[in-house]
Amino acid sequence: MTRNDPCWCGSGKKWKKCHYPDLGPRADGELATLYLKKYGILLKTPAQIAGIRRACKVTAEILDKTCEMAKAGVTTNALNAYAHKLHIEAGATPAPLGYGSPPFPKSICTSLNDVICHGIPDDIPLKEGDILNIDVSILLDGYYGDCSKMVAIGKVDPEKKHVMEVSHECLRRAIEILKPGVMVYEIGEAIEGYATKMGCSVVNQFVGHGVGIQFHEQPQIPHHYNTLKIPLAPGMTFTIEPMINAGVRSGHIDPKNHWTAYTDDGKPSAQWEHTLLITETGYEILTPWQE
Ligand code: MF3
Ligand code: CO
Repeated sequence: MTRNDPCWCGSGKKWKKCHYPDLGPRADGELATLYLKKYGILLKTPAQIAGIRRACKVTAEILDKTCEMAKAGVTTNALNAYAHKLHIEAGATPAPLGYGSPPFPKSICTSLNDVICHGIPDDIPLKEGDILNIDVSILLDGYYGDCSKMVAIGKVDPEKKHVMEVSHECLRRAIEILKPGVMVYEIGEAIEGYATKMGCSVVNQFVGHGVGIQFHEQPQIPHHYNTLKIPLAPGMTFTIEPMINAGVRSGHIDPKNHWTAYTDDGKPSAQWEHTLLITETGYEILTPWQE
C-alpha cells in the first residue's frame, strides 16, 4: 500500500489524506520504513512502546474491575457507568464513546449470549445463565489499549460453557506462536484449526487490528483461515480477539443501532482479547488481565 492508494478504511479517500499515520518520531531503521510503505504498519519506537504498555495496563485493570461487578441483577448500563468512572479516575478517555458512525453511544461494549461483538450497554439486568463479553478500549496520554474477556453469570448451560472455553483457548494458542517472522495468516490457522476441531465456528466479519497510536491501525488480524503473508516484526502492536460461535459463523448487525452484531442462528458467541507486542524473541502480553 502506498500513500496514494485508497485508504484501507473504505472512505474512498487517498490513504495519505485519511488514515495515514501522523505519528511523531518513528522507529529507527529501514524495517520501520519498509513496513510503513509496504503494509501501512507502524513499528513502534521504544518510547511509543512504553506509552502503549502504560495505557494497556490501565485498560486491563479497568476490565478486571468491571468484570468483578458483573453479577445477576446488575445492568450493563451500571457496568458502563462504573467503567466510565474508572477511566476518568485514571486520566483516560474511553475509546468507544463517540467512535465511528453512527457514533458508538457508550464507553464499553457489553456483548451478551448471541451477541458476537459491539453490544451496547442497556437497562436490562444480567441474569443467571447469561454469558457476557466486556470490551474495554482506552486512550491514555496519546496511546491506546484494547482488551476484553468473558464473564459467566452463575451457572451456564454446557453449550455456553463450551464456546467460552474454546474461544479462550483459541486466544492462548494464537498468542503462543507469536514471534518475528511468523506470518499473519498463521494466527488464523491456529485459531480456526482448533475451533473447528472443537465443533465451533470462527467469525470472519470482524478481525483483530493494529493498535497503539490509533485505535484501529494496520494490519488487520483475521481469526479465520486467510492468506495474509505479512511477517510479524519487532515493534508491532496489535490485538487478537477471536469471536467464536457455537453454531454458524455468520452474523447480522442490528438495523436499529448499526452496531450490535448477532449470530444468525441465535446460538451463543464468545470472545477474549489481548493487545500484544512483538519483541525480538517472541511476544509480550500488554493487557495482563486476571485469568
Ligand atoms: N475491541 C473492539 C474492536 O476493536 C472494541 C470496539 S469499540 C467500538 O472493534 F466502539 F468500536 F465499538
Ligand atoms: Co479490538
